[in-house]
Amino acid sequence: SRSIDLAVIPGDGIGQEVVAEGLKVLSAALPQDVKLETREYDFGARRYHATGETLTDADLDSLKRHDAILLGAIGDPGVPSGVLERGFLLKLRFAFDHHVNLRPSKLLPGVATPLAGQPEIDFVVVREGTEGPYTGNGGTIRKGTQHEVATEVSVNTAFGVERVVRDAFARAQARPRRKLALIHKNNVLTFAGHLWTDVFNRVAEEFPEVTTEYMHVDAATIYLVTQPERFDVIVTDNLFGDIITDLAAAVSGGIGVAASGNINPDRVFPSMFEPVHGSAPDIAGQGKADPTATVLSVALLLRHLGHDTEADRIEDAVSADLAERAGRPARSTSEIGDALAVRVAG
Ligand code: IPM
Ligand code: MN
Repeated sequence: SRSIDLAVIPGDGIGQEVVAEGLKVLSAALPQDVKLETREYDFGARRYHATGETLTDADLDSLKRHDAILLGAIGDPGVPSGVLERGFLLKLRFAFDHHVNLRPSKLLPGVATPLAGQPEIDFVVVREGTEGPYTGNGGTIRKGTQHEVATEVSVNTAFGVERVVRDAFARAQARPRRKLALIHKNNVLTFAGHLWTDVFNRVAEEFPEVTTEYMHVDAATIYLVTQPERFDVIVTDNLFGDIITDLAAAVSGGIGVAASGNINPDRVFPSMFEPVHGSAPDIAGQGKADPTATVLSVALLLRHLGHDTEADRIEDAVSADLAERAGRPARSTSEIGDALAVRVAG
């Protein structure tokens, strides 16, 4: 479409700084005839401290009207652990049915990796985003006693598994290597694991051109380090996906470049794009944060909205910028944003 109506949630800590650069690059990438409208929302720790609110029904109603959401980071040491995670981030992912949590990993030339050599890393993790152990289905009894019993039930529905597995197959089919790995732990988690495996094998029959493999999550952590080039598309549950995408980020350039999309493929609700990193309060406000992960999240956002040319231009600009970084003096957040904006406009 010829206009983008964007909800912008800078959030806490470095979220403010990186989102400003993301928007700078977004504006520079868009052609004159695409109108960009933004509305900023003040969610995060400050609002929570001031009002006690994290995300209200009225907030959701308002967010729902946008084409997409750009999020910086939410989180603050002054807020008890779990309040903003559940009250904001997970609430939004669940409310807007972001069942595809898309996390690409690509080791770009010139980018340092802790792995030996410079392996070819170019895969994308399709992490389920609305089920698994994240649903808050659990409880505790005899709290605080030596007999406390806590449960955290992993919820897996045939509907929820099938839609994310289908999405992953479609993505694998569209990529040159056409490979898809299911990562789970079906030797121990036999109920959920067998549901995932059965659905995966059934859907596979509809995608004969996609080469599939199954891998236990513990083995996958080894291969992500020793043979990351073997992966093309990975599909996995919410918690395994959370863990392996941090590992994936660590081997492919670090969280400074790790982008993600919380996607509602049906487009009933706006999708949300965010860097994988958090609010990094220790370096907030100093212009030290690398906005690259946010800029790459903007590229995912553009691709989701059908602006592939602009998304390509941003990704190319990031590649070129990263390739030239080695040996150069460190730049500030806004210097990196400026350089990227110049490249995408040029
Ligand atoms: C992520 C984060 C979140 C998650 C937390 C903050 C709820 O770690 O986006 O990966 O576990 O999904
Ligand atoms: Mn995480």
